[in-house]
Amino acid sequence: MRWRIAVLGGDGVGPEVMEAALEVLRAAAGRFGHELTTDIQDVGYAAYERSGNPLPEETLAACHDADAVLLGAVGDPRSEEVPVELRPEAALLALRKEMGCYANLRPVRLLPALASVSPLRPEIVKGTDLVIVRELAGGLYYGEPRGPLDDGRAAVDTMKYHQDEVARIARVAFETARGRRNSVLSVDKANVLHSSRLWRRVVNEIAEEYSDVECDHMLVDRAAMELVLNPSSFDVMLTPNLFGDVLSDEAAAVIGSIGLLASASIGGDGGIFEPVHGSAPDIAGTGTANPLAMILSAALLLRHVYSLEAESAAIESAVAQVLEDGLRTADLAGDGEAAVGTAEMGSAVAAAISSEKVSADA
Ligand code: IPM
Ligand code: MG
Repeated sequence: MRWRIAVLGGDGVGPEVMEAALEVLRAAAGRFGHELTTDIQDVGYAAYERSGNPLPEETLAACHDADAVLLGAVGDPRSEEVPVELRPEAALLALRKEMGCYANLRPVRLLPALASVSPLRPEIVKGTDLVIVRELAGGLYYGEPRGPLDDGRAAVDTMKYHQDEVARIARVAFETARGRRNSVLSVDKANVLHSSRLWRRVVNEIAEEYSDVECDHMLVDRAAMELVLNPSSFDVMLTPNLFGDVLSDEAAAVIGSIGLLASASIGGDGGIFEPVHGSAPDIAGTGTANPLAMILSAALLLRHVYSLEAESAAIESAVAQVLEDGLRTADLAGDGEAAVGTAEMGSAVAAAISSEKVSADA
């Protein structure tokens, strides 16, 4: 198979973790007899600096042309000087919208080798294996009206959902649950927000089409608490855009580091595959960022775009393997433990794949 991937390293640590992920993809292509072709493009502050546009036309065209998009990260402290619509984050939101990606899947699984890295006690975090299904194309991120009011003395954002937007993301959650433990927990703030009452009603309607899947609801504040008290109790968490953004960083901390959390943004054709961590400007250029979230995002791409389960599983097993072997980037290393850099971690994962030490059916 030929993998045609648009590669957008972006800002901060993005290009560094991307390089590691590409090495891993090349190793997977080599082992399984595929061909990888990449179309490397700018996005975010890097693109703005070069062309005055954080999402240049060529980048967008390349994303549409490719089978899928691999994205590193966007965001740069220097962009605070830039008008909001030209900031890196605006480019990411526009790209998601343009690509029709309304569903963002964020798998959160504790890797056994990292049980002691979690800030939670091992007996609490043990068995954590959930996926956040975050609505990505609506809600507070896109609702109108939005913007400054009253000469900047006030401002407004709008949390708005149409029932069709809720129905389509709810279906993604129920379908995802069918491939897992058949349970969906929908998160909202229905005791206060109108948009959440609509959300809950529509989720209940869709649930009737999935009588084999259990459906429950939880208010977002309680969900934030349960996520640290009882993380292993969740299977699929279905969330509106903003709540999913917040809860996924919390969930990342639960399993040890935001440097581990991958994501798949799907719904249109292809999809955008990106780590949940941002550009981490504080460590950009130091070669110390954890590339595993980016590498695991590449594994999600192979699974979702090409249905290559063995290839995807081989990458995931290789990641588990190098962690079992004791390799740690700085975010994962405990006191007195030696840390490897971004490139070394990437090469170790690639080597584990090439050596065929990892089985392809984990
Ligand atoms: C994420 C990020 C983005 C979001 C930012 C960079 C716009 O935090 O993917 O979680 O809020 O969606
Ligand atoms: Mg976020």
